Amino acid sequence: MNPLIELKQVAKHFQSADGSARTVLDQVDFRLEAGEIVALLGQSGSGKSTLLRIMAGLIPADAGEVHYRGLPLFGPAQGIAMVFQSFALFPWLTVQQNVELGLEARGVAADERARRAEAAIALIGLAGFEGALPRELSGGMRQRVGLARALVTEPAVLLMDEAFSALDVLTGERLRNEILELWQGGQMPTQAMLVVSHNIEEAVMMADRVLIFSSNPGRVRAELPISLPRPRHPDSPEVRLLIDEVYGLMTAGAKPSGSTEPMRPHLSDRLPAADVGHMESLLELLADERFAGRADLPQLAEESELVDEALLPLADALNRLGLAQLERGDLLITPLGQNYVDGDHEFRREIFGQQLLAHVPIAAFIRHSLEQEPQGQLRQEPFLKLLRESMETHEAERVLKVAVEWARYGEVFEYNFHTGMIHLPEAGES
Ligand SMILES: Nc1ncnc2c1ncn2[C@@H]1O[C@H](COP(=O)(O)OP(=O)(O)OP(=O)(O)O)[C@@H](O)[C@H]1O
Ligand SMILES: [Mg+2]
Repeated sequence: MNPLIELKQVAKHFQSADGSARTVLDQVDFRLEAGEIVALLGQSGSGKSTLLRIMAGLIPADAGEVHYRGLPLFGPAQGIAMVFQSFALFPWLTVQQNVELGLEARGVAADERARRAEAAIALIGLAGFEGALPRELSGGMRQRVGLARALVTEPAVLLMDEAFSALDVLTGERLRNEILELWQGGQMPTQAMLVVSHNIEEAVMMADRVLIFSSNPGRVRAELPISLPRPRHPDSPEVRLLIDEVYGLMTAGAKPSGSTEPMRPHLSDRLPAADVGHMESLLELLADERFAGRADLPQLAEESELVDEALLPLADALNRLGLAQLERGDLLITPLGQNYVDGDHEFRREIFGQQLLAHVPIAAFIRHSLEQEPQGQLRQEPFLKLLRESMETHEAERVLKVAVEWARYGEVFEYNFHTGMIHLPEAGES
């Protein structure tokens, strides 16, 4: 039997601000089978929404094949519906009218439209609110309208793009559970769902398979099948273990700082988007008595109230600088990291600078270049150009910005916003 959706070697490029082409998706292979829920996790900007829009037929792929039920997809398909994070309701239309909209476009007769919309509204728990306007509804209710509008078309495939992330935690969980109940009870016409999320727990609670997407370019990097029966309990050991496993897969790209394998850093290393202040807070949290230097990432996420998306770059950065070590989804403080936490501000700066020079080649390279200059300063452009040889412009700019931020803290070099010059800490003040 054909899969519902099949992507083969799909690629997508976008034009960057400077006119150059930027590859967002490359060589993406994916199959969505009838009967399954698949979750897609990946960093912000990795191309998840783009991929969903391609599957929904809203935008074309630039290369590769997209099939729906074995046939090439050329535009929005009857059986595929998408739910967005930002409810995307028409403010001047009632709940009923918003839900009917999808049917109107398909030329369904008025009385059938009304009947089916009412059924979808009732299914999703909004009976009695047919005449309400979106502004009269809470966020959770608005997202129910968004779901009803998708379900009214009786889609075989439901694509959900962070459909719960704009809602508060409890509302999001409740809605997610209700959808799972409808799915489980066979009350939805839907045969398969693809759920994009930033929430690892949500992915593990919902999916039969979790896919992990890489960035630059976006591609399926890892897959974890989940055979636990539903309903699942977020606090059960099985679910906690799977969450750990997903964390492990998501950090697998980071080099373990303490491993025997020599680190081979390159100038083109993509530095994680980690703020120094946040790195310090996380390290302090890891060192305090609750964790005593070792914690699993889900626990840390909970205690620090950081979403996975914010936590992972911080953990990666600490790992890279040798202040902590990533090990199968756990973060361990290193002896140096412990000294760091125990030290005063001056001591911390010194260690930070020293580790930066030792483990972040682009920072060491800039420092070395500056030391060759009589004035101790250089324009940032040559460094950007160097980075651009191995990454896209916007990524090069981001990496340089991170390097400068870290270097300022470690007193390795400074950046003068007025002159656009990078300079040694003691130079370029004029
Ligand atoms: N129409 C467009 N034109 C140019 N660039 C685009 C366009 N749509 C998306 N991009 C770029 O493609 C990249 C991937 O975007 P996309 O929205 O698919 O990522 P995402 O994984 O969904 O991110 P998030 O988790 O933040 O939602 C981003 O860098 C984005 O700026
Ligand atoms: Mg997105």
